[in-house]
Amino acid sequence: MTIEQTGQQDQWGINVENLPDFWVDSEKLSIMQDLMFSGINVMLTGDPGTGKTELTKRLAQAHNLPFHRVNVGAIRTPRDWFGHWEFIGGQTVFIQSEFVAAIQRPGIVALDEFNRVTPDIHNSIYTILDHNREVFIEETKQYISVHPRCIFIATENRGRSHTGTFMEDTAVEDRFETLQLTLPPIEIMADLLEKVYGATPDHALLLARITHKLNSLYHEESLSRPTGFRPAISAAALVKRGQPLNTALKYTFVNRFSPEGGVDSEQTTVLQVIQAYLK
Ligand SMILES: Nc1ncnc2c1ncn2[C@@H]1O[C@H](COP(=O)(O)OP(=O)(O)O)[C@@H](O)[C@H]1O
Ligand SMILES: [Mg+2]
Repeated sequence: MTIEQTGQQDQWGINVENLPDFWVDSEKLSIMQDLMFSGINVMLTGDPGTGKTELTKRLAQAHNLPFHRVNVGAIRTPRDWFGHWEFIGGQTVFIQSEFVAAIQRPGIVALDEFNRVTPDIHNSIYTILDHNREVFIEETKQYISVHPRCIFIATENRGRSHTGTFMEDTAVEDRFETLQLTLPPIEIMADLLEKVYGATPDHALLLARITHKLNSLYHEESLSRPTGFRPAISAAALVKRGQPLNTALKYTFVNRFSPEGGVDSEQTTVLQVIQAYLK
């Protein structure tokens, strides 16, 4: 292939091996892209703060694809997917949604926090997500076909602390291949905290260690909430602004947990973890 051809090459369907400043297991990244470019819907699961939402956006950037994110939790009725009625100039008119426009062109459509709504909200897009890839919009009496290069990636927070989320029924499970995201390994997380968020090497490693330990305590059921990437990012930001390390840790990692129970509280557990790593 000549240089000219490479330069003009359509980026469609060629896997990237990694994403700048973002960690994802290389096998998962490769499988994910193979699924996407085969027209198979992907469901990203994992604790909050494992980069699910961010990954959908980064993939669009890496492949130069238009990106549209649907905040599924904001959808109140099954018809909201397609648009809403508005009273304009003395009559009610149907305003078609951005979602309907997005599915008719190439690109990535992220269905973010898909399990924040009851399954009946999903019903109206089932035919979009299965092999039919089309839908009849009652309001405009139109059949809409999904563009062959429109890629669906859904995300879901799963875990015991996720009140306000719903179990998927098999109708949804049948329409997606699931990939579970996890926190980056400690050293990689530390590198990112240093490089992207400006933490010193010592602080970066400390924040990564605390994050991993607290999240493993959640999975061992010693803490009621998971710990993803976010508290470490916030702590790095506070320290960068001149806050003492201890204060930063208190407002980001500690205060997320309940002080109830005094010495037996979750906050005490978190403080003990922090003390152990500060030594
Ligand atoms: N694997 C990762 N590599 C780099 N940054 C990450 C990673 N996971 C999470 N982050 C960062 O943490 C923050 C939260 O990520 P987000 O995608 O919102 O998590 P989720 O959707 O899983 O709750 C973002 O700023 C994101 O860039
Ligand atoms: Mg998210």
